[in-house]
Amino acid sequence: MSVFKDAGHLFRFAGLFVLAFLIFLVVRHYIVPKSFGQYGHYRGASIGEIAARPVKFAGHETCETCHSDEAAKKSSGKHAHVNCEACHGALASHADDPSIMPVLPDTAVLCARCHTASAAKPKGFPQVDPASHYPGTPCNTCHQPHSPGMDAGGAK
Ligand code: HEC
Ligand code: HEC
Ligand code: HEC
Ligand code: HEC
Repeated sequence: MSVFKDAGHLFRFAGLFVLAFLIFLVVRHYIVPKSFGQYGHYRGASIGEIAARPVKFAGHETCETCHSDEAAKKSSGKHAHVNCEACHGALASHADDPSIMPVLPDTAVLCARCHTASAAKPKGFPQVDPASHYPGTPCNTCHQPHSPGMDAGGAK
């Protein structure tokens, strides 16, 4: 004699849960990648895949071995700590083969990216409003990109 009058439907219900769990285990087995959890909560094989990607940045030390003039100019100015590829973009391809000539940056886009005034920037960071700060004239007419701190023409 059972505890409940019609206990049968409770067992069927519990059976459904067990079935759903088994289906979950089977599906999980097929869709979770093999190396998942090898080292942690991620796909172990992703480490090798990422490491195998070609390197796109050469690093400023590499640029400086060939472009010592630009490096010297930069080191004494306000951009001393802004590295080459922050402005020129990833140039490992050019560093490996200098005959692949890089496109020079458009200063209207490049300089504004860092220097456009915004309340979110630290007060001490030099900022201008490109709409009122000599609009229409390229920034490098007055500022030397590699050394904006020591320029002719009254600009800093
Ligand atoms: C193996 C030597 C070498 C390395 C490394 C190298 N360059 Fe060059 N680069 C050259 C040569 C040679 C030229 C073409 C002649 C010139 O303008 O000095 C050139 C040209 C350039 C130009 C274009 C100049 C123009 O007038 O259009 C830029 C910009 C430049 N390099 C930036 C870089 C940056 C940034 C790096 C580091 C990621 C770098 N280079 C690494 C040798 C090198
Ligand atoms: C703040 C941004 C910035 C940084 C940092 C920077 N450059 Fe440039 N660079 C420019 C711009 C903008 C031009 C284009 C100037 C023009 O059109 O006259 C340029 C031009 C050049 C040229 C062409 C020759 C010239 O002087 O016009 C070379 C070569 C070069 N950069 C190499 C380098 C190297 C090497 C570094 C790192 C040591 C570096 N740059 C760092 C912005 C930058
Ligand atoms: C990747 C960000 C970045 C880019 C791009 C950049 N700058 Fe700068 N700039 C800086 C930093 C960082 C400083 C140093 C700020 C400091 O000294 O506190 C600086 C300083 C300056 C200063 C000096 C202001 C002063 O107080 O004397 C001038 C002028 C300037 N930049 C102009 C330019 C121009 C023109 C360009 C485009 C060729 C440019 N910057 C591109 C980050 C950038
Ligand atoms: C016609 C020349 C001229 C042009 C073009 C020009 N500037 Fe300037 N810039 C100056 C002079 C002069 C100063 C110093 C006086 C001042 O702050 O207005 C200056 C100051 C700055 C400063 C420092 C502001 C501070 O608070 O310390 C930055 C950053 C700057 N410019 C960025 C730019 C950028 C980015 C561009 C291009 C969008 C640009 N400039 C175009 C002449 C120019």
